[in-house]
Amino acid sequence: MDEKKQVILIIDDSEINRALLNHLLMGEYSILLANDGYQGVEMALKHLPDLILLDILMPNIDGYETIKIIKNNELISKIPVVFISGLDSVEDERIGLDLGATDYISRPFAPPIVIARIRNILISVKQRDLVEKQTKELKEAYESLKHSQNQLIEAEKFIYLGELVAGVAHELNTPIGIGVTTASHLRDVTNKISDAFSNNTLKKSKFDHYVKSINDSSNLILSSLQRSSELIKSFKLVAADQGLSEKKSFNLNDYLNSILTVLNPEIKKSGHIVNVKCPEQLCITNYPGAFSSIIANFFMNSQKHAYKDRTKGEMNIIVSEEDQDVVLIFKDNGQGITSALEKKIFEPFFTTKRNEGRAGLGLHIVYNTVVNILKGNIRCEGNPGKGAQFIIRFPNKI
Ligand SMILES: Nc1ncnc2c1ncn2[C@@H]1O[C@H](COP(=O)(O)OP(=O)(O)OP(=O)(O)O)[C@@H](O)[C@H]1O
Ligand SMILES: [Mg+2]
Repeated sequence: MDEKKQVILIIDDSEINRALLNHLLMGEYSILLANDGYQGVEMALKHLPDLILLDILMPNIDGYETIKIIKNNELISKIPVVFISGLDSVEDERIGLDLGATDYISRPFAPPIVIARIRNILISVKQRDLVEKQTKELKEAYESLKHSQNQLIEAEKFIYLGELVAGVAHELNTPIGIGVTTASHLRDVTNKISDAFSNNTLKKSKFDHYVKSINDSSNLILSSLQRSSELIKSFKLVAADQGLSEKKSFNLNDYLNSILTVLNPEIKKSGHIVNVKCPEQLCITNYPGAFSSIIANFFMNSQKHAYKDRTKGEMNIIVSEEDQDVVLIFKDNGQGITSALEKKIFEPFFTTKRNEGRAGLGLHIVYNTVVNILKGNIRCEGNPGKGAQFIIRFPNKI
């Protein structure tokens, strides 16, 4: 068989018909010949031809039964089958096409027409195979892109957690530093008093001064340790929820304030202020970690995009209840977002600060978190010149 030529299998019980078709097509194609349906199916399975020409009236099994076997075997079901038959009624043609034939040629036929039809079918089959191959490749490329995107999003969450850890470590530095300095001061003055006592040189005024010093220092150590303990508590609360795994009932006002405590080093550094206004007794059932990721992203965005070099911006988190829903608004008083940008900001990888190394994933993560975790919705009002505003609505219990 000529390797380069496309292969046509002719299944016909009449030797004359087979010889005629063979003669007609052998110049352009490699030809296989079978003289009944069973032999035809066997050869099709063995050689996987590009096209099958099938007679209808044959002994043993006829063309209709043969095509049923071909179309039910997935190894060969995609090979186009063309009936070529002396039966020329419209009904025969309909049955043939209904059984999955690609075309139906009645005898007697004009040879150039047969050649042209077969050529067209083979071209369209080639195109179909090409499209199928490209679609498969595109699907694989899409899956792999999606996978990379998910990995990037996961990585971004870790970066956020890393930033939190760095921020809290920085914040803890001050109270713990104060505690250490004060405690070592206490040790020094105690040593001095102890020496004076041993040498019998301890005066009442010195002792009074020492007692005052102990009092001041222990107050300072206590407040530093309390501040450290508060910071650690907030951090534990916010960081432990980063896995977003545990659903619970919690006080939203307290939780939002804990988030701001953890973000405090960043907020202080930025020179902006962030206020929370939330009903004090509002308890919701949801995934608390989702809120810390959302608020941190909003804050970082306002800080990075809203104010250029300006400090003293004001951000407000305003929470209210509407029926069974909670509405959380985050707004800043920066430059706002134009309506052209507003349409794109939730898309993955959309950023206006690519050249500053931003990935454009923050608001995409926020969007997914709101929709998939809070089971709510989010919209943005860009308010150019006045400040962007993000409105999130979610059920108070999920
Ligand atoms: N508060 C805001 N004020 C003005 N523009 C904003 C504000 N928040 C977001 N944007 C615009 O929306 C775009 C998309 O925000 P998103 O958080 O998705 O990406 P990013 O901040 O640029 O990058 P990343 O969050 O990955 O660091 C930003 O590039 C910015 O142009
Ligand atoms: Mg961002």
